Amino acid sequence: MDAHLFVIFGGSGDLAKRKLLPALAGMVRHAGDVSCHVLGVGRTPMEESEYQDLAARSVAGLMGQPEAANWAKANVHYATTDEAGSGFEGLAERIVTIEQANSLPGNRVFYLAIPPKAFEGVVEGLGSVGLNSGPGWTRLVVEKPIGHDLASAVELNTNIHKVFDESQIYRIDHYLGKETVQNLLVFRFANHLFESTWNRDRIALVEITVAEDLGVEGRAGYYDQTGALRDMIQNHLTQLMTLIAMEPPVDFSADAIRDEKVKVLRSIQAIRRDDVVFGQYGPGAVDGESVPGYLEDPDVPVDSNTPTAVVMRLRLNSWRWQGVPFYLRTGKRFPERLTQIAVTYREPPVALFGIQHRDMLKPDVLRLELQPNEGFELYFDVKVPGNRLDIVSIPFHFSYDEAFGRIPEAYETLLADIVEGDQTLFVRADEVEAAWRLYQPILDDPPRSLPYGAGEWGPDEGDALLAHAESWFMPNSRVHRPHP
Ligand SMILES: NC(=O)c1ccc[n+]([C@@H]2O[C@H](COP(=O)([O-])OP(=O)(O)OC[C@H]3O[C@@H](n4cnc5c(N)ncnc54)[C@H](OP(=O)(O)O)[C@@H]3O)[C@@H](O)[C@H]2O)c1
Repeated sequence: MDAHLFVIFGGSGDLAKRKLLPALAGMVRHAGDVSCHVLGVGRTPMEESEYQDLAARSVAGLMGQPEAANWAKANVHYATTDEAGSGFEGLAERIVTIEQANSLPGNRVFYLAIPPKAFEGVVEGLGSVGLNSGPGWTRLVVEKPIGHDLASAVELNTNIHKVFDESQIYRIDHYLGKETVQNLLVFRFANHLFESTWNRDRIALVEITVAEDLGVEGRAGYYDQTGALRDMIQNHLTQLMTLIAMEPPVDFSADAIRDEKVKVLRSIQAIRRDDVVFGQYGPGAVDGESVPGYLEDPDVPVDSNTPTAVVMRLRLNSWRWQGVPFYLRTGKRFPERLTQIAVTYREPPVALFGIQHRDMLKPDVLRLELQPNEGFELYFDVKVPGNRLDIVSIPFHFSYDEAFGRIPEAYETLLADIVEGDQTLFVRADEVEAAWRLYQPILDDPPRSLPYGAGEWGPDEGDALLAHAESWFMPNSRVHRPHP
């Protein structure tokens, strides 16, 4: 790993404190003796020692207080810029000073951990003082959201491309840093067992769920402008779907993989009106605690139609997936926090075990859990010991935690990839735009958001859409976590 300077715009913000600083400290620890200096940038004037204290507090859980303080003192810096464009000459000088003082070769990461409205000003500012290239490599990291619709995403990409080349740009979708997601590629393309059955002949349906138990506390003003389609479906769930559905790439290079993901997006049929259900949570109970409804939040307009849940069926026009529905489901105030991909195989063509066993036979299901417990389960039917022919579904179970102990946080994986220059897990401009293009008609003419109680899995109409899928995993159990 090259020695580098990691510049975080929004260095004192929530993302930097909770995710980026701990991930950087973790990365340095696990990479050995890599030289990584961090420069937090903000508009708020702050003494360098104050920012070092903030950084030390952020990473103390990882390495203990004394080591955290030493790490921050030796490696963490702070600088201020003004609003868009100004103050960048001073920043450029500061960067060179830090690099010279610490014998860094001029490799630089610029991470935009700032509100989206500030992205373009900072990019322009970096370009105006020549910080878009340097003595070593220069990389730009952009957080979601990449636009709020197709037109704004195209505009943002165009403006960033005026300053940075696509090969320098890393658009983060932190779901792609999860081990289970990366393992999807290995799972599919290193195991002939799975890849040879990964098609319409063997698979009946695919279901992707990202459920949150939290509501919009404290973020309602922002969320009401966004909603679940923009916040979750357009990026995280769509990214997961493309990895499940993509063809084998010609090689494992970042662009070969991303080419295949774009092809998946282009193969999706225009989304039918009756394939989308929007929901909005009302009052209810989560974990036994009463919680207010979305419209009761003082920052939400009383007539808001913003969806806090979306259930959707996608139809792919491709040789591999024709006729196999892909269900996407996400929502806030669902009963639990759970992200999973469930791949349901087709039933055997003949019910050899007789009609009385029909209900006992379940299709095989591969369930990949991304959070909270990264791992997977493969459910298959077995005979219960004894004279009677009773059949139950039993999972093969694999847990990353049990097999490997600690696994890196998604952000740690992604930050290490940025420093290594590997763009595989980052979203290319044409991918972002293809995803927006798919959902733009729904954004232009959104359906009415149907009510569901907090603590439920979305509105009944969403269940009805899922119930079309002939999966024992889906309609009845709802949680998609069957107990044999
Ligand atoms: N927090 C998360 O878990 C999370 C997750 C995914 C994506 N994101 C994305 O990451 C970005 C940062 O999120 P956050 O939660 O860390 O936000 P935040 O805490 O509200 O703000 C981050 C920092 O941005 C700076 N800032 C605010 N307005 C600015 C402006 N107009 N121009 C330049 N800098 C400005 C602020 O520092 P100064 O006032 O000192 O300039 C602030 O410390 C956002 O794009 C967000 O959507 C966050």
